[in-house]
Amino acid sequence: MHSRLSAYVSDTTPGRGALRTARSWLHSDAPSRSLNGLWCFRLSPTAQVAEDFADERFDDSDWDSIPVPSHWVLQGDGAYGRPIYTNVQFPFPIDPPHVPDENPSGDYRRHFDMPADWSAAERVVLRFDGVESLFRLWVNGDEIGSASGSRLAHEFDVTSSVHPGDNVVAVRVHQWSAASYVEDQDQWWLPGIFRDVTVIARPGGGIEDVWLRTGFENGHGRVETEVTADAAAFPVTLRLPELGIEQVWATPADVAPFDVDRVEPWSAEQPRLYDVTVSTATERITMRAGFRTVEIRGDQFLVNGRRVVFHGMNRHEAHPERGRVFDEKHAREDLARMKRFNVNAIRTSHYPPHPRLLDLADELGLWVILECDLETHGFDKLDWVGNPSDDPAWREAYLDRIHRTVERDKNHPSIVIWSLGNEAGTGSNLAAMSAWVHARDAGRPVHYEGDHAGEYTDIYSRMYASVLETEQIGTDGSRSTLLNCTPAQGARQRTKPFLLCEYAHAMGNGPGALDQYEALVHEHPRLHGGFVWEWRDHGILATAPDGTPYYAYGGDFGEVVHDGNFVMDGMLLSNDVPTPSLHEYKAVVQPVRFTFDGDGVAITNLRHSADTSDLRFRWRVEHDGTPLDSGDMEVPVLAAGDSARVPLPRITVSQVSETWLTIDAVLAAGTAWASDGHVIATAQLDRSARRPAPGVRPRTSWRQSDGTLKLGIAEFIDGSLVRLAGRAVAGPGLELFRAPTDNDEGASEAVEESDASVAGVSHAELWRRDGLDRLTSRRMSVKRTAEALQTIDKVSAANSALSVTVESVWSLEGDGLELRVEIEPSSGWPTVWPRIGIRFDLPDGAAPVDGAEWFGLGPLESYPDSLRAARTGRFSSTVRDLSVDYARPQETGHRSQLRQLALTSAGTELLRIVTLPDSYGRRPGFTLSRHTPQQIAQAGHSFELPDSTTSHLIIDAAQHGLGSRACGPDVWPEFSLRPEARTIRLRIAAG
Ligand code: GAL
Repeated sequence: MHSRLSAYVSDTTPGRGALRTARSWLHSDAPSRSLNGLWCFRLSPTAQVAEDFADERFDDSDWDSIPVPSHWVLQGDGAYGRPIYTNVQFPFPIDPPHVPDENPSGDYRRHFDMPADWSAAERVVLRFDGVESLFRLWVNGDEIGSASGSRLAHEFDVTSSVHPGDNVVAVRVHQWSAASYVEDQDQWWLPGIFRDVTVIARPGGGIEDVWLRTGFENGHGRVETEVTADAAAFPVTLRLPELGIEQVWATPADVAPFDVDRVEPWSAEQPRLYDVTVSTATERITMRAGFRTVEIRGDQFLVNGRRVVFHGMNRHEAHPERGRVFDEKHAREDLARMKRFNVNAIRTSHYPPHPRLLDLADELGLWVILECDLETHGFDKLDWVGNPSDDPAWREAYLDRIHRTVERDKNHPSIVIWSLGNEAGTGSNLAAMSAWVHARDAGRPVHYEGDHAGEYTDIYSRMYASVLETEQIGTDGSRSTLLNCTPAQGARQRTKPFLLCEYAHAMGNGPGALDQYEALVHEHPRLHGGFVWEWRDHGILATAPDGTPYYAYGGDFGEVVHDGNFVMDGMLLSNDVPTPSLHEYKAVVQPVRFTFDGDGVAITNLRHSADTSDLRFRWRVEHDGTPLDSGDMEVPVLAAGDSARVPLPRITVSQVSETWLTIDAVLAAGTAWASDGHVIATAQLDRSARRPAPGVRPRTSWRQSDGTLKLGIAEFIDGSLVRLAGRAVAGPGLELFRAPTDNDEGASEAVEESDASVAGVSHAELWRRDGLDRLTSRRMSVKRTAEALQTIDKVSAANSALSVTVESVWSLEGDGLELRVEIEPSSGWPTVWPRIGIRFDLPDGAAPVDGAEWFGLGPLESYPDSLRAARTGRFSSTVRDLSVDYARPQETGHRSQLRQLALTSAGTELLRIVTLPDSYGRRPGFTLSRHTPQQIAQAGHSFELPDSTTSHLIIDAAQHGLGSRACGPDVWPEFSLRPEARTIRLRIAAG
C-alpha cells in the first residue's frame, strides 16, 4: 500500500477516473444541490492511511466536523496544523515529482440526499470548484477518480454510483503532491476543500456548454455561439429580449453567427451587459453578454478600436480569517473599492479566482487578465534544471490547467487577455499552452511574463522594470538591449504592446514613483500601463501572547522555512484599510487631467471611451486652508481623449495668508460602486501673494553662558530646553534615523539609477553600520545674549569619525519665540540619509499630547516621491491616526510642507508651531508619534511596541524617498536624500 500511495501523490498527470472535460461555469436551471456545509473530518499526518473510510458503512461518529469550503489549517485553532508562508522557496525537499511522507492528508465524509426525480437525469455530476492540492473521490464506496489543479474546477461523472435517497461522499485531500511543484505561488499554503462542492443533475437533452463570443465593431454587435449539446437536444433557442432577438437553431449545423444593431459596447468604464438565455426543451442557461472586440494592432492593445491603458492591481484571493475561501460580499466590496480608487483592471494573480468574481468584474467594469494556476518559481534555485515547464512528463498537466482555465471562464467580457501563469521559467509546455489558447480563442491575446524573448506570447510583459528601462521599452527604434533578449529578440518584443504585469511593490510604506511610470504611459503609446503588486496584504488574523489580535505573516506560525512579511505587500492592509499608497495611486491615475494656465484650466478626459457626462466639477478657494468661497464649474461634456479650456472662477487673493484653488471632478450620480459626489479627480492651484520670509537678525553680542535661563515660554538648564509653556520637553536633538521601511530594507541589485545605493546591500544596513540609529552628541559651546541662546553640538556615532554639527539658536523675536537650527554635516558621509530632522520628546504630564491640527500637506502621510495624493489644506488627526499600522512597524506618518502645527490634548491647544521657509523656500515636514524611530525599528509587529508615556515630534527638514526596492527599483536620484546642510526655523507659542 505504501508504495502505491506515494506513487499516486507524485503522479504528474492531472487527474484520473471519471473526471470530465472542462466547461463553462454556467447558470443553469438544471437541478443541483450544494454540498457546502459541515462535513465529517479527520486529519492524518501522512498519505499512508487505510482507505476504509471511503466505505459507505464506515463509522465516522468520532470524527470532527469541518466547514466546506474552508482550509483545515485555518480551522480548529491549530488542531489541524498551521499555515505556511513561502514566496519562492518550496516548504519541502526539492525532489520532483515526489513529496515527503509527512504529507498532511484530510479525509472528508458527508451524506447527501438525492431526490427521487433525479433518477430521470441523464447524468449526475459532482463538481469541485477548488481543492488544494490533490484529492480522491469516492461515492457510496466506489472510487470515482482523482484530480489536482487547486484553483481549477473538476467535475466527475458519478451517475453509476449514486441512487435516490441517502448517498455518502468521501474525499481524501493531500496537502502535498506533484502538483505542489507547479503551484509555487508567493502566498500561504492553505490545504483543503476551499471552494464549493455541488452535485448536479444533468438533464437529457441539456446544454453541456455554451460560449457566446461577442464582438463590437462600428456600432454593431456580433454573436458567434458555440453550443455543446447532443444533436437530439436541438432545437436550441437563444434569446436576447432587450434587443428583441430570438434565434432558433433546429440542428447543430444551423448554429450560425448573427449581427445585432443598436447595441451598446461593453467596457470597463461602461460595463453594459445584456441578459441572454440559451435553452433546449430541458435546460435553460442564463447569461449576461457584453459586446466588445479585443485586438492587437501593431504595438497597440485595443478594445473596441481604442487603446487600453491598464491601471491595474494584482489580486490574490486573501482574507484574514477565510484565506482563499470566497465571500461574495467581501469580494464585491473589494472590486467596488478598486473602482473608487480609479483602478480599472485586475490580473488574477496567480490563478483563476472563484468564478463568481468574474461575474462581478463584468458587472462593475474591470479589464481582467485571467491567469492560469501555474508557478514553478522554486526551480530558479536550481537554475531551472528539472523545471516542469520544459519537461514532457508535465505536458498533459500544463495543458489540462490552461484548458480548465479558459473553458471555465471564456464567456466573460471582462476577460481581455489570458495569462499562462507566473514565474514558471520557460519551455515547450508553456508554448504548448499558448498554442492551445490561440487555437481555441482567437479573440484574446496570450500573456506570460516569463516569455522574455517573445517566442510564443502576444504581449511584451515585464515585472519591476525601472522607470528608465520602461522608458527605453516604450521608445521607438531604441537599440538598447532588453532584459534576457538578444538584439533580434528585443526588436521582436518592441513590435508588441507592452505592459508591466507587476510593478510598484506596495510592501509597507511605499511605493514611490507611481507618477513617473504613469507619465510614460502618456508619452509612449506602446506602453499600456501595468498592475501594481499587489492589491492587499495577506495577513492572517492571530492572537499575540498578551491577547492582542494581530495580522500574522511568515514565521508567525513557527514555519521551518518562510519568507517573513513579504506576503504583506498590498495597497490595502489585511483589515481592508486602504494605505496612503492607494490614495496616491488614485491621484496619479485619475482619469481627468487639469492643466492650469493663466486664468484658465485645460481639462482633459483621459478615459478609454466614456465621456464626462457623468461628472460634475466643483471648485473652492481657501485662505490658509480655511474655506472662503466655492461653486460649480461649467465644463462642456468631453468625449474620451478630448479636452477643453475653461475660465477659472474669480479668486480673492489674501495678502496675509496662502490662497489655494481646488477643483474636484465628482460623480454627478451614484453608481454601483460609489455614491454621488464621490471625487474621482482633483487639482490645486497656488494663487498666494508672494510674502517674503523674515530674515535672520544678526547678533554680535554673544557671551559664554551656563545656559540656564528663560526665554519667553522656553526654560533652559545647561543650555538644554527643559520646559515649553510650563510643560516638560526634552530635545530638540538631531534625528537622522527613520525606522527602515520594507523598501529601505530591500537589498536588490536594481540600483543602477542611484549613485548612493550599493547593489545587494540595503540602505537600512548602511544606516545601522554608520550608527544613524544611535547618535550621541557632545556640546561644544553655549552662548547667550539678553534675548537669545546659542548652542553648538557635535553629533556622531560610536566608532565613527563622521559627524554633524548642529547650531541651535533660540531667540525672542517680537513677542514670539524662534528656534533656528543649522545642521551641517562633516565631509565624507557615504550613504543617503533617511531624514534630516530634529526631535522633541514630550512626556505625558497632566495633559498628554493626543492630537494635531495642521496647515500643510495632508490629510495622509507623504514622502518626496509620493506626493500626488497630498493636498495643501488644514487637517486634524489623533496621534494614533497619524501613523499607518503597517504589518511590520516602520517609518510612517510624515506630513510634508508644514506651515502651522498645533499639538492638542483633548481638543485643547498646548503648543503652536509655525514654520518659516529656508532660503530656498522649502518648508519642513513633521511626524508625531508615541514611539521613537529606534523603538519602532525594534518591533516585528505593533503589539511588540513598548507602552509609551511620551509623544515624539520630529520636524524634518527633509526625508528620503520611498522607492520600491523591497522588490524593484531604488529611490529615484532626485528623491534620494544625500547628506546636506539644512536649516529649520520654527516660531513656537503656547496654545
Ligand atoms: C513577483 C511575483 C509575485 C510576488 C512578487 C513580490 O516576482 O510574481 O508573485 O512574489 O514578485 O512580492
